[in-house]
Amino acid sequence: MSVLELETYPTVLSVNQVSKKIGSKYLVNRLSFDIQKGEIVGLLGPNGAGKTTTIRMIVGLISMSEGDILVKGKSVRRHFTEAISHIGGIIENPEFYGYMSGYDNLKQYQRMTEGITKGRIQEVAKLVGLEQALHKKVKAYSLGMRQRLGIAQALLHRPSILILDEPTNGLDPAGIREMRDYLKQIAREEGIAILVSSHLLSEIELMCSRIVVIQQGELVTVRDLDTPQNEMEYVKLKLRIDDAGRAKERLQRMEEVTIAGIAAEQREITVVVRDRHVPRLVQALGEERIGLYRMEESRESLEDEFLKWTGGNCIA
Ligand SMILES: Nc1ncnc2c1ncn2[C@@H]1O[C@H](COP(=O)(O)OP(=O)(O)OP(=O)(O)O)[C@@H](O)[C@H]1O
Ligand SMILES: [Mg+2]
Repeated sequence: MSVLELETYPTVLSVNQVSKKIGSKYLVNRLSFDIQKGEIVGLLGPNGAGKTTTIRMIVGLISMSEGDILVKGKSVRRHFTEAISHIGGIIENPEFYGYMSGYDNLKQYQRMTEGITKGRIQEVAKLVGLEQALHKKVKAYSLGMRQRLGIAQALLHRPSILILDEPTNGLDPAGIREMRDYLKQIAREEGIAILVSSHLLSEIELMCSRIVVIQQGELVTVRDLDTPQNEMEYVKLKLRIDDAGRAKERLQRMEEVTIAGIAAEQREITVVVRDRHVPRLVQALGEERIGLYRMEESRESLEDEFLKWTGGNCIA
């Protein structure tokens, strides 16, 4: 890798062979993964997998038994204060004074922490969509607003990485979506990395570029979600078309395409095809003058895989 590339994609967080042992039990066992600048990474695993334990070690709330964690190249073991200064984190529920406004709560924190300007308070409030509510008392905030106030607080000192333990816990679907949108915006606008844990694939697959799957304290797999499919890889596509009967007839003649199912009053057809053959499929439908309204990649397989990785019904 060239020096330029190193500067463009610096590793913000590096978890190296980290273990946490209590008594004779390993809560986390030789876990390793990296996070680059600007990336949103999901730490995914069923209840009891070791997500909170891992995050507590990263933010320095508990010690590691083995291994080391580097934050912007600084060892949490050897350069604790400097390493931790690059992290913004919320572990469990952030505590706020309910009788004070969101602004006063942030102000309180600003006074205690060196180098944060008042202007920064407005900036972070805007980032998490709390400008309008900033002067309302925190006790009038919804759960989602409280969570976002927590994130605002964690961002005040301009960390390089934001670490959130199950930030969508307890939120309704609209709240989850909002949280997702804000986190994406924060990663983009602040140029920082985000590590977010969850026990639900569906909650994080839409915002993460990568997921690190753990179970019983061990790494199961790391998956890139954003990267373009390998063009030789098969994709499963659900097509919404105006005449599935004719489409079936046409597609059956194509060696590259396998028909996996036809549904919903003959207006939906599911096919399996290599990524690089998708344009041919679309072209064939066009030549037959079959109207194509929608084409969705079926992500069932990812979910199936996730269940397989983590042993099926362990996932809530
Ligand atoms: N202080 C402790 N002493 C002993 N065991 C612990 C301690 N803290 C956690 N554990 C155990 O370690 C394992 C991992 O717990 P952890 O809280 O990290 O899981 P998690 O992935 O965050 O789960 P959840 O989805 O329920 O939040 C669990 O089996 C838990 O019971
Ligand atoms: Mg947990």
